[in-house]
Amino acid sequence: MYTSHFKMNEQEVIDYLKAKQLFFTAQENKLIAKEIGDGNMNYVYRVTDQGSGRSVIVKQADKYTRSSRKIGQKRNKIEFELLRFEAEKCPDMVPQIFHYDEIMTCIVMEDLKAYQNMRFALMEEKSFPFFSQKIVEFIIKTIVSTMDSFVGPMFKRKQVQKYTNVDACDITERLVLTNPYREKYAQAPIEEVNLPYLYNHFQMDQQLLLEAAKLKYKFKNETQALLHGDLHSGSIFINQTGMKIIDPEFACYAPIGYDIGNVIANLFFAHIRSYVLNPGSEQSKYFRQWIENTVMGIITDFTKKFLLYFQENVTDAMEKSQDYRQWLLHLILEDTAGYAGLEINRRIIGIAKVKDIESIQDKNQKALAERILLMLGRNLIVNRTQIKAAENYTAALAEACALAEREMK
Ligand SMILES: Nc1ncnc2c1ncn2[C@@H]1O[C@H](COP(=O)(O)OP(=O)(O)OP(=O)(O)O)[C@@H](O)[C@H]1O
Ligand SMILES: [Mg+2]
Repeated sequence: MYTSHFKMNEQEVIDYLKAKQLFFTAQENKLIAKEIGDGNMNYVYRVTDQGSGRSVIVKQADKYTRSSRKIGQKRNKIEFELLRFEAEKCPDMVPQIFHYDEIMTCIVMEDLKAYQNMRFALMEEKSFPFFSQKIVEFIIKTIVSTMDSFVGPMFKRKQVQKYTNVDACDITERLVLTNPYREKYAQAPIEEVNLPYLYNHFQMDQQLLLEAAKLKYKFKNETQALLHGDLHSGSIFINQTGMKIIDPEFACYAPIGYDIGNVIANLFFAHIRSYVLNPGSEQSKYFRQWIENTVMGIITDFTKKFLLYFQENVTDAMEKSQDYRQWLLHLILEDTAGYAGLEINRRIIGIAKVKDIESIQDKNQKALAERILLMLGRNLIVNRTQIKAAENYTAALAEACALAEREMK
């Protein structure tokens, strides 16, 4: 049994867990399974024993995406390997893994039902005071620590080979780093009122196109550290006491700023959603202030922790000076702003939208949100060398809001 791969359905997942004697005891035999996947790629099953109420998650990668596109399954192995690595570095920040099956390409893991998907929590304007500190801890321990400055270039080069997944990189390079900037690929629907801006300004903006192309070049050519690769708010599960990070199937070696930029961009989606839906409410203003403080907290805390980590752990004899680590930090911060801009743009005009913006019902409010975000995205990309201090982000945000409001009056 299970000697060659097939895509399991709900009953077959139950049969699989029973045959492999995974997670449930013999007494827990009233199992029900439900497919709960909401992404584009894989099948995610929650299996619950109706007697004890205990449950587990089985995530399976098929040879086809859910939209029937053929795709290699290496992503599943990479996801497992990275979850295992992250568990060594930050055990409280990833789901517990119970089993990995290389033939069936499935991972059996802890059910995070005690947590809420952070994208939805942010859409409800919930705030999490610990978030900036925790996410920076995760970034330092699981991402920065993989740089060759600490592990040595020999080891890192082998790791780069291990984590190279041509399918995943191809998806990122097309969906994030190319298609939003090419007219024929611009994925309407965005609100009609924004189309002239998109076609005549945004996609004709030679400075923007050049700077976006430079960031694409960097992503393709710079194996700086092992990234999560898809660190958006939908990959984070959170409650008032902690958080867990899932879905590192796009893990690869690339610039660190790509992951930090993703985190920041997705905080901005929640901010702008709140701004257009609830501009006057005091509670919403508090929420937006928390988002701004969180973005600033991420930059300041990363700056502090990166410099300290580098100073204490660097092994490369050429990289020991303070000037060197400052120089490197500035490159990472520059990338962070740039990739935050790219993530914003691709979620507005690319094919994979975000619920924060897509679920805004009123056309005028949605159009305003899109315009603010496109202006912010552009600014972060084009002016990224100037956006290094925490306050630069909030200034860029305020400027985009003011500009878009004026243009759309
Ligand atoms: N360990 C878990 N505990 C609880 N729910 C989970 C868990 N893992 C995944 N899920 C649920 O399944 C959904 C999809 O999971 P995940 O993002 O890993 O799938 P995916 O197919 O890789 O998605 P995407 O196409 O966005 O990459 C999550 O949003 C969540 O609702
Ligand atoms: Mg995924």
